[in-house]
Amino acid sequence: MPSNQLLAATPPMGWNSWNMFGSKVNEDAVRAIADTLVSSGMKELGYNYVVIDDCWSVKAGRDGNDDLVPDPERFPSGMRALGDYVHSLGLKFGMYSDAAERTCAGYPASYGHEEQDAALFASYGVDFLKYDYCNAPEDQASAIDRYTRMGKALKGCGREILFSLCEWGNRSPHLWGPQVGGSMWRVSGDIFDSWVNVWNAQGSWYGLGIDTSFGIASTVAEYGGPGGWNDLDMLIVGLKGKGHIAGVGLSNIEYATHMTLWVIACSPLMIGCDIRNMDEHATKLLTNPEVLAINQDPLGIPGRRARKRGPHEVWRKPLSDGSIAVAIFNRDSTGADITVKSSDIGLLDTPKVAQDLWLRKEVGEFTDKLILRVQPHESILLKVRG
Ligand code: GLA
Repeated sequence: MPSNQLLAATPPMGWNSWNMFGSKVNEDAVRAIADTLVSSGMKELGYNYVVIDDCWSVKAGRDGNDDLVPDPERFPSGMRALGDYVHSLGLKFGMYSDAAERTCAGYPASYGHEEQDAALFASYGVDFLKYDYCNAPEDQASAIDRYTRMGKALKGCGREILFSLCEWGNRSPHLWGPQVGGSMWRVSGDIFDSWVNVWNAQGSWYGLGIDTSFGIASTVAEYGGPGGWNDLDMLIVGLKGKGHIAGVGLSNIEYATHMTLWVIACSPLMIGCDIRNMDEHATKLLTNPEVLAINQDPLGIPGRRARKRGPHEVWRKPLSDGSIAVAIFNRDSTGADITVKSSDIGLLDTPKVAQDLWLRKEVGEFTDKLILRVQPHESILLKVRG
């Protein structure tokens, strides 16, 4: 088995600094988040990567040895010490760079320095590298070349480092991610803390709303699996409009739907909020073991759309115990009765028992179809046994 399959046999889970802290990320916050992953029990649920995103280094440039340098004010202890601390808690340490001379936020990046930077990351004890694609050439061949260079450098650096590709799906990374050593690849641009897409005042760029992720996840579903996963972006659960990224936040129902989609699509689950200050609802969404087990099921088959009638969708994901996860989505702004048919589930006319994993209750037995009331933007996640 190639080593990247061992690294990401199921979708990676953890926490990433960007959605909450942006350029203000610092070692105190990262330590406190790592502590909270342990004290809250989230580590035990599988959230084990602590990833520092963009803006961690001195912006002006490299040092006299041409090495990247951690910002001395925000990371005064240095990255080795921070990596050691994260490891001392039984967690894994992640960092970030970009396949160009500068990152998205304008910090020095790794193009032309791949081996040197991979060695530096290894010396920090890094276990995960998110590799962005700002300021790099548009074409697919260049992207494959640049990701191959860093993939090779990581393979040769003497440490096993999970390679997380982030070119936003523009050059079909689901087709070549595994070949460059990637264990996950972003399949979309940045999602914002919003149900609908967000435009800036000039209308010249946008961040995706959650409602746009359904189509993207459906298009690439067949390409994810053990060893290499379609990454729908870091989670926005718990941000409530207070994060670094734009957006006014979602309703509780919408955050639950976001989580349901990420879970059934087998996206990596990288938390983006400040887990030290989560409300009860966000905690419930992120820590439901039966729901997380759907995402982490060892069969590793991303859910697919079984049926779509306008804004009403039924998704299906086979599980290793022979049961089927079924997600029902109402993307409409009015409530609806949505029918789930035996043929959607793939367990034909045998009697079936359905359990609602969010509400933690039996929905009941049915044979040919189930009709469920689904509120606007709501989802229902079922586990169905034949
Ligand atoms: C890009 C990525 C984001 C984040 C920022 C950091 O936009 O897609 O996930 O890493 O860069 O600048």
